[in-house]
Amino acid sequence: PEPGWTAHTDVVIVGSGIAGLSTALRYIERTPTGRVVLVTKDLIANGSTRWAQGGIAAAVDPGDNPWAHLVDTIEAGAGLCDPDAVRILVDEGPAALHWLIDQGTVFDRTDTGDLALTREGGHRAHRIAHAGGDATGAEIERALVEAVRACDRIELIEHAFVPDLLVGVDTQGQRRVAGVTVHVMGEGERDGVGAIHATAVVLATGGMGQVFAATTNPEVSTGDGLALALRAGARVQDLEFVQFHPTVLWLGAHARGRQPLVSEAVRGEGAFLVDVHGRRFMRGVHELADLAPRDVVAREIARAMAETGADHVYLDARHFGADKWERRFPTILASCRTHGIDPVTDLIPVAPAAHYASGGIRVDHDGRTDLAGLYAVGETARTGVHGANRLASNSLLEGVVFADRIAAALADEQPPALTGPVLPAGGGPSGLADPEILPELREAMSRYVGVRRDAAGLAKATAVLEELTARATATNPAPGVPAWQATNLLTVAWALVRAAERRQETRGSHWRADYEQPSAQARSRTFILDPSGIREDT
Ligand code: SIN
Repeated sequence: PEPGWTAHTDVVIVGSGIAGLSTALRYIERTPTGRVVLVTKDLIANGSTRWAQGGIAAAVDPGDNPWAHLVDTIEAGAGLCDPDAVRILVDEGPAALHWLIDQGTVFDRTDTGDLALTREGGHRAHRIAHAGGDATGAEIERALVEAVRACDRIELIEHAFVPDLLVGVDTQGQRRVAGVTVHVMGEGERDGVGAIHATAVVLATGGMGQVFAATTNPEVSTGDGLALALRAGARVQDLEFVQFHPTVLWLGAHARGRQPLVSEAVRGEGAFLVDVHGRRFMRGVHELADLAPRDVVAREIARAMAETGADHVYLDARHFGADKWERRFPTILASCRTHGIDPVTDLIPVAPAAHYASGGIRVDHDGRTDLAGLYAVGETARTGVHGANRLASNSLLEGVVFADRIAAALADEQPPALTGPVLPAGGGPSGLADPEILPELREAMSRYVGVRRDAAGLAKATAVLEELTARATATNPAPGVPAWQATNLLTVAWALVRAAERRQETRGSHWRADYEQPSAQARSRTFILDPSGIREDT
């Protein structure tokens, strides 16, 4: 539909998790008069950030250093990290953590007043800061939301979905992203369909876990930024590396949608995994045993489940006792008890579920995508810090570190003028997808593109996607958030399946049961969307 209203600003940020909020605040710090419009499709605090439990990694302990953090990150990334991006992450990490403290985030402290630091999978040092025991993301989100609300140069628009990017051509003949179309579900001046023109757009839309049947991600994680970027002609990279969190509370074979997380920090504090016969199957698999990198643990759990015929394993943390459970992991304790499991006396049933997109929209070290004027930050971006498997608790850190780099780039940006009209990028699938296909889409993705993949399963996934694409567009659904999200999820599913097919090796979180070994040469792959669909950009 034609926009009913038009607004102008300097920067539009789409998304309100740690990455989007930090970019907004950092940009304001770096410019005396710059203005931001921050749009978010739900309430401001309803993204993934508030669900993050374990913490945020940074080498701040006197016994630790950024180099050791780099080594662990690169080992977890299984040959596909960009070492320069990792260097930025670990070197700028401690300052980023202190910036969060300056914004009002209250991290847990030791009796002597130092930051309390724990471990998680793949970390050889105590370097995970946490808040409220196991409610780190909620505390960070609280502090950043308060800071954003207090800033009069940031206009916040909630319940605002971005169906498309606006693109123009500048005086140098280059295509440039110059704003967004936005559909605001509310009342008042900003109601209905509008257009926001800006010098730059930052996508901070989070993950895509909702493309799977079971995920730790909230309902809003529908890959919107990825799909927007693909439709506008940007490249995506490393999408096959979906990280499955090893220990998600198992609520039965038919549990669907967002599932409760049991943080890796529980293993960091000494819990261990056993199969349904009580065997400690992580011993002897990796020198870090139960604290091996996440891909190793998820794969071993899948093997233990296949061997025993059970659809879960157990986490044993009974030896913590009631006091430690209450003090250190109050959120997890409450969520287990809600489901009738008391971790003080019971084993906790767990199984892997989709958790994090290690790949995403390809960006440089300042968050620039391949399209002028378009930036991406946080889970939706592929900076190269995660490679084939993200190291635990590096994602909150990535959001803050790269937010500041984008803010610096935006503050310096003096884009050439546009010569013609600014129009929606459009592109991509002809027609919107009917949301009624989503349950089948998610079942197929979990079944064939989950922890364990092979060529036969991926061929089945392709066949299902072909059938669902035909059906989804035949009904011509009404424009609106459900149809836009379904369209985005379908686009993301296609990109994921194409990327998983092309990678005929096992590497990081991409386990191909028909190619069990890594290939001799590690290679990162990029994909684009053209009229024939998603294809590798060689
Ligand atoms: C967790 O607490 O286990 C999740 C941490 C992360 O995904 O980085």
